Amino acid sequence: MTQKEITIRFQEYRNLNDLPEDLVNLIEAARSVSHKAWSPYSGFCVGAAVKLTNGMITTGNNQENAAYPSGLCAERTALFYANANYPEVAVEAIAVSARHKKGLVSEPVKPCGSCRQVMLETETRFNHPIKIVLDGKNSIYVLEGIDCLLPLSFRAESLKG
Ligand code: THU
Repeated sequence: MTQKEITIRFQEYRNLNDLPEDLVNLIEAARSVSHKAWSPYSGFCVGAAVKLTNGMITTGNNQENAAYPSGLCAERTALFYANANYPEVAVEAIAVSARHKKGLVSEPVKPCGSCRQVMLETETRFNHPIKIVLDGKNSIYVLEGIDCLLPLSFRAESLKG
């Protein structure tokens, strides 16, 4: 038996304004679109802003459904929109922001497993790492690629056996 260890690195920022300007803009876009979420069942409003390598920003938010599993998270709404409309353009970064009734969540929002898997597919598709920015009132995390959020992943090579 060999004991193995995976180390995940990320940056924590205590103040929004310590981040580079382009990421501040991306977070603000995510915060802004979170207000337009359709989340009457959870009351949890999530916004995601995707920056493409051509400089464009596309956004999305969570879309819930009375038949719960039919809804979709903000991250996948935003990424699917970007990939559907700009299929030739790689994704540079994604910012995610979440709020409940009392406002912005205190700790950085953590994307669900399905959204992580879709981020991985998008990185693989364009062979381009995606910077992941997770917003919160107390701190903001910046991760340099999906391997930091989804280690030991199932990916295209896994299909080859
Ligand atoms: N949700 C997102 O949109 N993104 C996340 O990262 C976490 C969860 C949504 C799904 C559902 O509409 C609501 O938040 C509560 O789970």
